[in-house]
This record gives sequence, C-alpha cells and structure tokens, in this order.
Amino acid sequence: MADEAAFAAQRVFEPYLRDRGFVNGRWIEAQDGRRFEVTDPSSGRAIVSVPRMGAAETRAAIAAAEAALPGWRDSTAGARAKVLKRWAALMMERQEALATLLTTEQGKPMAESRAEIAYAASFLEWFAEEGKRAYGDVIPPHRADNRIVVTKEAIGVCAGITPWNFPCAMVTRKAAPALAAGCTMVLKPAEQTPLSALALCVIAEEAGLPPGVFNVITGDGEDAPLIGKELTSNPVVRKLGFTGSTEIGKLLMAQCAPTMKRISLELGGNAPFIVFDDADLDEAVAGALLCKYRNTGQTCISANRILVQSGIHDAFVERLAAAAGQLKVGNGLDPAVSIGPLIEPAGLAKVERHVANAIDNGARPVLGGKRHELGLTFFQPTVLVGVDPKMAMCCEETFGPVAGITSFATEDEAIAIANDTPYGLASYFYTRDLARSWRVGDKLQAGIIGINTGFISTEIAPFGGIKESGIGREGSRYGLDEFLAIKYRCIGGIA
Ligand code: SIN
Repeated sequence: MADEAAFAAQRVFEPYLRDRGFVNGRWIEAQDGRRFEVTDPSSGRAIVSVPRMGAAETRAAIAAAEAALPGWRDSTAGARAKVLKRWAALMMERQEALATLLTTEQGKPMAESRAEIAYAASFLEWFAEEGKRAYGDVIPPHRADNRIVVTKEAIGVCAGITPWNFPCAMVTRKAAPALAAGCTMVLKPAEQTPLSALALCVIAEEAGLPPGVFNVITGDGEDAPLIGKELTSNPVVRKLGFTGSTEIGKLLMAQCAPTMKRISLELGGNAPFIVFDDADLDEAVAGALLCKYRNTGQTCISANRILVQSGIHDAFVERLAAAAGQLKVGNGLDPAVSIGPLIEPAGLAKVERHVANAIDNGARPVLGGKRHELGLTFFQPTVLVGVDPKMAMCCEETFGPVAGITSFATEDEAIAIANDTPYGLASYFYTRDLARSWRVGDKLQAGIIGINTGFISTEIAPFGGIKESGIGREGSRYGLDEFLAIKYRCIGGIA
C-alpha cells in the first residue's frame, strides 16, 4: 500500500522530476560523474540521485550567470515582470504536482505543501510588480549649478543557499527579488531537498527565463563547503542570500568579507510564544498549534518557548494537549496526516535529547514525549509542562513537534525570559489589552512580532531577524533593496 502511494505520487510529479543540475539553460552532470541519493523521509526510499558538484561546476555556473547578466539587467522591469508572473502562474497550474514532489522529498503534509507552492509563487508575483517600483530620488542640490540624482541598479550576480524546510518558498523568496531587480543567480539548494529547486527550473524555462539567469547546482553535505566557498569567494558574485543555521551563517559571512559581498542572512530563531491571562484562550491555543506543529515544528519561526501566565496556564495546557493529541502522524501524502517525519535522524536525535534533558530536569510530559511507533524519524506530538528557561530546549531550536511550556507570573518576567537569548527572529504574544499589545511589542527583541496570531508569513511583509538571527530582510519592498545598489550622480555646470 505504501509503495502504491509512492508510485502514484511519482506519476504525478514525474514531468517535473530532474536528476541533473541546471546551468546556462542546460541539464548538467558533475564533471566527475559522482551522484548522491535523495530520499523520501516518510519511507527511507531513494527517489532519485542527483550530481555531486563542487567548486568547478560552481565556477561554471557563476560564469553563466555573469554572461547572462547584461541582457537581463538591461531589459526593462516590465519585461522581467512578464517572465516572473508567467513563472508564478505556471507554478500554480502545476501546484498539485509540485506539492506532491515537495511532500515526497521533504515529508510535510500535502496541505502544507500546496500552501508552500502558493507561498513560493506569491514571491514571484509580488516582486514582478515591485521591481517596477525601484524608484530613485532627485535631491535638492547643495549648489545652484548642480543637480543630484539617485538611481538604483541591479547589484550583479547573486548567490543563494537555501534550506530543506521550505524547499520551494525559500528559493523564490531569494530568486524573485534578485531577478526582478535585474540580477542573475546561482542557487545551491539543501542536499536533502534539491528536487523542488530543480522542478522550479523546469517551470522557469517554460516561462521564458533566458539561459544563465537562474542556475541550480546540487551537492551533498560533503560538497556544500566547497560550493559555499566558491560562491562566497568568487569576486564575480556580489551578493549572498542564505537561510540556515546561525553557525553556518557566521561562517559564510566571514567568507564573504574579503570580497566585501552584500549579504542577507536568515538564521536560527528561538521564538517565545507568550500567552497572557487576558488572552482569548481559543485563539491562543489555535495559534500555538499552528505555530508549533506546522512543518512538524521545523521552521525558524516556530514557537520554541511557550510562556503561559499562571492564571490561564492549566486551561491552556489542557486544551493544547487535547488539540495536539488529535494530530495524525504519518506520510504526508495521506490527506488525514498533519504531522510528517523529521527530515533526518540527526533531527530526531536532537528532539530526543531536548525532551530527555527537560524530563531529567523536572519537566513532565502531558502528551507524547517519544519516537512514534511508525519508526524512521517520526516523533509523537508532544506537550511538556514545568519547562525551565535554562533547559536545552529553551536555549536551542528544537525543530520538532515538541511544545515546552513555562509558567510565568508577571509581564516583566515574561519579557525578560523572552529576550534572554542571543536570537531575535520571531516573537508571539496573545493579549486582549490594547496598551499591553503596544508595550510588549515594543520591548520584545525580534524582527517579527505576531500579536494574537501564530502565523506571520506573507510575501508582502519583511521577514528577518535581529541579534544572531541574521541580517537583512526577505519579502516586501525591503526585500528588493537587498539586490539593488544605490548610485548617486552629481551633475555640475548647470548654469
Ligand atoms: C523559515 O522557517 O525559515 C521560513 C518560514 C516561513 O517563511 O514561513
């Protein structure tokens, strides 16, 4: 039965399945012919193998992007918008096939994969339009015979390195603003999920994207440092956009320094999710459920520390555990499933370590707490109470379906706990008090604040963090600026 479902799924995504890299409009092998397997985390089955590329292939892709740059950059924003919009429209026409491929290589439930395809297409659509509004400025001059004009231009060849948790959306969140601005790009998708990025190339080609404008190179975990080194040290590359861990982000930032590349880094988070006594309990539980268990807890903006005020604590825990207990675990291709597998054994080991550390130090599971009987990397939806802010699960991203709940007494205490982390990506809180909603929002140290909502992702708003959660913003009009260089012209002799 499981095999039948996998074969049926493969028939759906087969037209978009590619097993080679995409450079200069051509499907290419690694120079030495080496390959690695991409597996379905729900079954452990190999889907297909793709090339193990390295520095040489990366250099070739950068050269292709450099050659394609003048033609693409010097076209109009309107012409580029037509291609990007067609790309988005074709993605939505093929939503089911792309979502099926995404679920197969990443594991998330089909409903979430469909939503991710729409989210990914939305960046293309949004930046297609926003590229037309890369306005400059005319500044009143400092001398009567001068004129001062500011223009914005494409920064040049860009590199993107994307994670496995959103294999489509993180690609277009980088490629769409780059391409809309007139840049070209070389992208390295995560080794766990290269197939969605390659499927995007199939569709980009069909949409009329010229060769060399968007290139994808594949490599496994061992190849990543070589590819990353080339992307960050090659002087032709003028900008790097990366989503991933803070540890790797710091390394890439250091590697970009000698050639002074522009960088935007969307790194780790440790989001607090605060529920005040005056919150709407139903809304807070629904928000926590979504924010914590979406993508099996594997998002950078997932609620990592759930802080609940003492007066509402027991009722919140009871309802959250009841709701999380209803979530069906399994293969994301099954429409009834809402919790898929973790991406790989290392992820499972981390979740187990966090749960064990919490229980050893006095936390108590009110739901789950163990590997799921399905085996592989499946983990039970879990709710723990009595979690202390010093426990491992409050200091590191758990990236799993585990809600650790800490009780607090006062607003000041909640804010102090929430901010006691080197990270500052997202923070959430629930309250019905208008003054508190401003006060707490002002004091929380994060780039993104969700107030009475557990879902903040949209192409129209700036996504990104402060502190060690990163630099720069993706999405929104701010996301376009990351790919534009400012040029100021001082025109003299205007008598
Ligand atoms: C992420 O986890 O990095 C992205 C999540 C999102 O955009 O919703």
